[in-house]
Amino acid sequence: PVGAPDKALAKKVQKVGIIGAGLMASQFALLFVRKLQVPVLITDLDQARVDKGLAYIHEEIGKLEQKGRLDGDGANRLRALIHGTTDKSEYADCDFVIEAVFEEVGVKQQVFGEIEKIVPADTILATNTSSLSVEEIGEKLEHPERLVGFHFFNPVAVMPLIEIVKTPTTNEAALSTAFVVAKGLGKNAVLTADAPGFVVNRLLAKVMGEAARAVYEGTPLLTVEKAFGPLGLPMTPFQLIDLVGWKVAAHVQDTMASAFPERFYANENFHQLAELPQVVDKDKNGKVTGWTKAAEK
Ligand code: CAA
Repeated sequence: PVGAPDKALAKKVQKVGIIGAGLMASQFALLFVRKLQVPVLITDLDQARVDKGLAYIHEEIGKLEQKGRLDGDGANRLRALIHGTTDKSEYADCDFVIEAVFEEVGVKQQVFGEIEKIVPADTILATNTSSLSVEEIGEKLEHPERLVGFHFFNPVAVMPLIEIVKTPTTNEAALSTAFVVAKGLGKNAVLTADAPGFVVNRLLAKVMGEAARAVYEGTPLLTVEKAFGPLGLPMTPFQLIDLVGWKVAAHVQDTMASAFPERFYANENFHQLAELPQVVDKDKNGKVTGWTKAAEK
């Protein structure tokens, strides 16, 4: 599929709901308030998680103020637009709700099932899944036609791309709204098929998976890092894995391997690494300098 649908069909987004208050969700909240200047709601399972998300957002707003990107009034306006709660009934007047919860089909189906009971039938639902089937995520919805994939990249504030994913049932209003929202966020949107890994993660899973595999096959980690240097990528494979998160990266590997066993392999060792809390040593500039904990294992 190519091209964006008619933007006249887009729903006007006056309030955004974000499901989750983790790092990804908090980055979304900040971007939405900065760029769309509409109220944004974040929720999570308990108040401690919500408070952690809010603390991150407030800290980032403070940094923008320090950098002179926001004046005091602008910063206060953003702070006032963000609301965090555990009370899901507050999604009732959201026009666009995006989830950023654990990357597991069942979990995503469950949260959307709850949200669907609260929001009107035409509220657009978006999933930030990085590699799961959007159609499957919407399988249990009463109105799966309003579900669309809306996949951000890390760091959300700076990566210019959003993959918009259409399922066989996604309607034109949902698709159109997704494109208009992406544009409002200042991102370039591409429409991708609902296929595992969409486009970007097919490529990244290869880079990350093969880099980890090369280390386990005996090439020192720093040699792998160095070998990638001349390719001119903004980050080396292990910086990228570290940025994305080891668990997320391992999960993407597994999803790709089960979808395309002939092209990807489930990398057991890579998965074990994801269990370690911190495997990469970095210098103060974020450059990977070693992999001590993995070596100790
Ligand atoms: N959060 C917010 N802003 C950040 C940031 C972060 N974590 N990291 C960097 N930035 C901002 C900086 O503040 C800076 O902004 P200003 O210029 O406005 O001050 C800007 O980004 C550039 O930062 P730096 O000059 O410090 O660093 P850099 O030039 O090395 O660029 C980078 C940093 C943009 C992250 C660059 O290294 C890059 O593009 N890396 C590749 C990232 C990537 O491939 N992401 C995709 C991961 S896959 C994924 O997320 C999806 C998935 O499903 C798994």
